[in-house]
Amino acid sequence: MQVTINVNGEDRSADVEARHLLVRFLRDDLGLTGTHWGCDTSNCGTCVVLMDGEPVKSCTVLAAMAAGHEVRTVEGLEGPDGLDPVQQGFIEKHGLQCGFCTPGMMMTARALLDRNPDPSEDEIREAISGQLCRCTGYLNIVRAVQWAAQHPAEAEQAPAQTAGSAA
Ligand code: FES
Ligand code: FES
Repeated sequence: MQVTINVNGEDRSADVEARHLLVRFLRDDLGLTGTHWGCDTSNCGTCVVLMDGEPVKSCTVLAAMAAGHEVRTVEGLEGPDGLDPVQQGFIEKHGLQCGFCTPGMMMTARALLDRNPDPSEDEIREAISGQLCRCTGYLNIVRAVQWAAQHPAEAEQAPAQTAGSAA
């Protein structure tokens, strides 16, 4: 079946099987490997993208279910004026080690800050509670999100480094 999804502001199409997962559509059909796939049990959350602004685990969404919707991946976080504050926060606060969980963490953080620009530590921890990090102990991830909340426009001035978009 032909599926068209608006990904990072651009309509992208592919001919896929009905069982094709959104994470596979993004990684295999579009080459957007910033969205990671870390488990077969819907537990790890490294595959989180935003669908119509809401975080979803892209390994639990069929590509066909996302047809006609707006999907935003980690590749779409950086704007024309620079890094998203969430990306800059992960750099400033060393919010990653191996980086495998980072794309999903950053997309969840972006969604949280979009609906709640000044979240408490408990609200940040609740927002990322569906995602696993095997490296950081979560503390620096929380600090990174707090930095982003405190510097909503700061990243636009920062040098263009990219956090968390590796394959
Ligand atoms: Fe682990 Fe989606 S890949 S929850
Ligand atoms: Fe390695 Fe989170 S930084 S899993």
